[in-house]
Amino acid sequence: MKVRAKDILGMKGSRKIVMITAYDYPTAKIADSAGVDAILVGDSLAMVMMGMPSTHGVTLRQMLWHTEAVARARPRALVVGDMPFGSYETSESDAVRSAIAFVRSGAEAVKLEGGSEYADRIRAIAKVGVPVMAHIGLNPQRYLKLGGYKMRGNTAEEARQLLKDAEAVQEAGAFAVVIEFTNPEVAATITKKLQIPTICIGSGRECDGQVLVIHDVLGLSENVPPFAKKYVDLMSIAREAVERYAREVREGLFP
Ligand code: KIV
Repeated sequence: MKVRAKDILGMKGSRKIVMITAYDYPTAKIADSAGVDAILVGDSLAMVMMGMPSTHGVTLRQMLWHTEAVARARPRALVVGDMPFGSYETSESDAVRSAIAFVRSGAEAVKLEGGSEYADRIRAIAKVGVPVMAHIGLNPQRYLKLGGYKMRGNTAEEARQLLKDAEAVQEAGAFAVVIEFTNPEVAATITKKLQIPTICIGSGRECDGQVLVIHDVLGLSENVPPFAKKYVDLMSIAREAVERYAREVREGLFP
């Protein structure tokens, strides 16, 4: 049966939630046939698909294009569109407009980076009927302000702020929250306190679910973060296949 945002919410306390990114038709097919619960059309595609140095360069239009490709795979998993830098910060109405564009492109929920400071955007989007996944802890779209991609929640002050952020996004109507690269004890505390599920990346195992970037899982990324796990080295497998093809053409063996 098709997975909806309310099903993800209902998984809290009963089973672990599995989310993975996908950016096009074939990766969506792979993820969905493997039985994941949610597919995130992540803005990480800026780096792993487009070779950009950060997620800042990807536009709303490009994100919608990739969301359409994923939706064409008609996955059973929930399709979550990741709101890129510049598509929700400027005003509540911009945020709602961008979320509607994602739904028109096939997303069944959207995700945005931020805690208390963007709770009003979450509330406004949820109000028009689009389920929102929040994203706290390390927010890669804020790396300039944060001074890099460092683990969050290692000081008492940061831990307190993260808990406040988690409560604020829940109160604003988010159906789930991603916690990225955060002290595992802080992520565990947040998981216990919230009624909505926490889906973690690099924040320990005491969360309601996990999310990874598919290029990291498949061994297609150039830079794999320390907390990710490479389950297969597809880059080497693919290179060997292309090398064999090239050799066979040159030696007159193919066609
Ligand atoms: O864009 C992305 O892939 C993400 C995940 C790392 C959660 O936001």
